Amino acid sequence: MSFSLKNVISIKDFSKEDINFILKQAKELEPIARSQEMCQTMAGKILGMMFYEPSTRTRLSFETSMKRLGGGVIGFAEAGASSVTKGETLSDTARMVSEYADALVVRHNLEGAARFVSDVVDVPVINAGDGAGQHPTQTLLDLYTMQRVFGKIKGLNVALIGDLKYGRTVHSLSYALGMFGVKMSFVSPPELRMPREIMHDLRHNNVVAQETDSIQEVLDDVDVLYITRIQKERFPDIEEYLRIKGAYRINATMLQGKDLIVMHPLPRVDEISPDVDDTPYGKYFEQAFYGVPVRMALLNALIKPFE
Ligand code: NCD
Repeated sequence: MSFSLKNVISIKDFSKEDINFILKQAKELEPIARSQEMCQTMAGKILGMMFYEPSTRTRLSFETSMKRLGGGVIGFAEAGASSVTKGETLSDTARMVSEYADALVVRHNLEGAARFVSDVVDVPVINAGDGAGQHPTQTLLDLYTMQRVFGKIKGLNVALIGDLKYGRTVHSLSYALGMFGVKMSFVSPPELRMPREIMHDLRHNNVVAQETDSIQEVLDDVDVLYITRIQKERFPDIEEYLRIKGAYRINATMLQGKDLIVMHPLPRVDEISPDVDDTPYGKYFEQAFYGVPVRMALLNALIKPFE
């Protein structure tokens, strides 16, 4: 098994072998992620973080991953803290940071931003979310979580719920689940359905995905409820957001007697009641932890260590 990519921009660039490689490596790196063992593969290497949009988990887990592997981290967590406020272009900033770092992690509000950066720098680029586009590293940790919980991905029945229009995590995830032969249901208000081009791509690849606006319809059949936040910041019209927000709310009572787990990329607003957190259903905090071994595996695959 090996890893064929130089950059991690879209999950569509991954072969199944690339994905399986990362999932396998992540499992081996878990003791290091849990601080039970030490590792120095990234000693002397530096990761450059360019975050133009807010982030907690993605940024901190990348930093943790790099540091647990013995490497260092530089960068900015908001555009306001960089020369962007002085008018510097994305291209110039990326080229500069790439002079200091061995790989770049980019989060940006514009779709295509990470791909653009990968075209202007020589070091590997990792997309940590580009607008409503893709979020491939989130998808890898989502897949890893399913594999850890169920011992497999193939054959699972997964419902993606909430903002399927603007949610980049579900855009990436639906392609990957399609590759693994997962049966999907897409649950959203009519206004927030999965983009038609993604539906078209999935159908083209013979992937089955049923669309509905009712959670009740899927509750009895699914192994995973993958809940997402309504992406307030992407709505052109705040009135529309206000009308739709709170469309879906999961609580512990609704889940009683069901044989499923609840996942969420986080942050949550009010989609999942806190009474689910400490039940066997709630897997989202464990899922967030898995971001560390998975991102460690990616860093090891992309950055060449010193001999
Ligand atoms: C997601 C994102 O940024 O797309 N967060 C994350 O990286 N875990 C989900 C979200 O913001 O709703």
